[in-house]
Amino acid sequence: MARINDHYLKLKAGYLFPEIGRRVSEFTKANPQAKVIRLGIGDVTRPLAPAVLNAFHQAIDDLGTTENFAGYGPEQGYDWLSQIIIDKSYKPLGVNLTTDEMFISDGSKCDCANILDIFAIDNVVAIGDPVYPVYNDTNVMIGRTGEADEKGYYKGIVYMPFTAENNFVPDLPKEKVDIIYLCYPNNPTGTVATRDELKKWVDYARANDAIIFFDAAYEAFITTPGIPHSIYEVEGAKECAIEFRSFSKTAGFTGVRCGLVVVPEQLTGTTATGEKYSINKLWKRRVTTKFNGASYPVQRAAAAVYSDEGWTQTCEIIDYYMENARIIREGLTAAGIECYGGVDAPYIWLKTPEKMTSWDFFDKLLNECHVVGTPGSGFGPSGEGYFRLSAFGERTNVETAVQRIRDTWGS
Ligand code: MLT
Repeated sequence: MARINDHYLKLKAGYLFPEIGRRVSEFTKANPQAKVIRLGIGDVTRPLAPAVLNAFHQAIDDLGTTENFAGYGPEQGYDWLSQIIIDKSYKPLGVNLTTDEMFISDGSKCDCANILDIFAIDNVVAIGDPVYPVYNDTNVMIGRTGEADEKGYYKGIVYMPFTAENNFVPDLPKEKVDIIYLCYPNNPTGTVATRDELKKWVDYARANDAIIFFDAAYEAFITTPGIPHSIYEVEGAKECAIEFRSFSKTAGFTGVRCGLVVVPEQLTGTTATGEKYSINKLWKRRVTTKFNGASYPVQRAAAAVYSDEGWTQTCEIIDYYMENARIIREGLTAAGIECYGGVDAPYIWLKTPEKMTSWDFFDKLLNECHVVGTPGSGFGPSGEGYFRLSAFGERTNVETAVQRIRDTWGS
């Protein structure tokens, strides 16, 4: 008899976003006339930048010719894509990388999950609370944890509360941990960390031989000068951090799929017998065995994001979403709702009015305003009493949603 991976049975309910989708579709079935506005999952709504679309079309045409046809590409991604990312996105930050340190993928969610393959199961892992659920659930799935307690904390994981009190930058753990997940700009709270705050973590990781998984999927949305876009802007980070980036939100690739992982050459872990071993070498071994690379047209489209024209158009789209964020943040604040984020990230993290639970607020918002958001408790126990709104909607929808919320909660 084929045994299943019982660790999956420890997971609570469904993955957050399908669960929201289920509730919304139940509501729309019962209320077909309601014009529901979805500001839940952070899914983009603007079309691809024209320069990106043209490159995509051109690459498809390449596949129809003998001269330009592309079969298997390098598993790690084409050098021309890695190089343009290095030149346009890392060099201006003062970060020097080689193409051997960059791994192009089909998206950041898979990368954040797959990276666990190359680390031993007995590493102690620290994750935020609230947090992007993928970090928590993938550690449960591979068997790093025990069962969850009644609050939802899994035995074996060190949880780091991200709260308004600590300005959404967690305190260093009291116990020694081996792997630390940090996400800035943060999903779900929409907040950022300063260079000094990140330095504290880099120093901790170096002193404790720990590795930071730094998720920078939202770096393109930073507007405040001086806020680091990459962990490698912090001295010493190349010795202790892996960085994840994504084209999903930056360039509207949620349906196209492209991400990247940076694994610096000097980053090492320890073998069972105590020797240092290159993490880059290990990840490369994993990638070449289990992955055949992101598709050629997708990588061509991704490279076009960094062309002069592509970048100008991409920035216009980012500005559009950040204007949505401003409208949401200011509208809710005017309605007396306490809000965080939305300045350097496309998410607004709000305190539920009248001390409602996150799911009660979700239901009220859906039933009375016909607006969908994401309950904070779905991101972890410390998210209870909070709620996330995404700024990735269409402008008129965002304006209507804010008006409906103001009509319901504003005085
Ligand atoms: C979110 O809404 O948190 C994200 O869209 C989920 C993701 O990127 O997978």
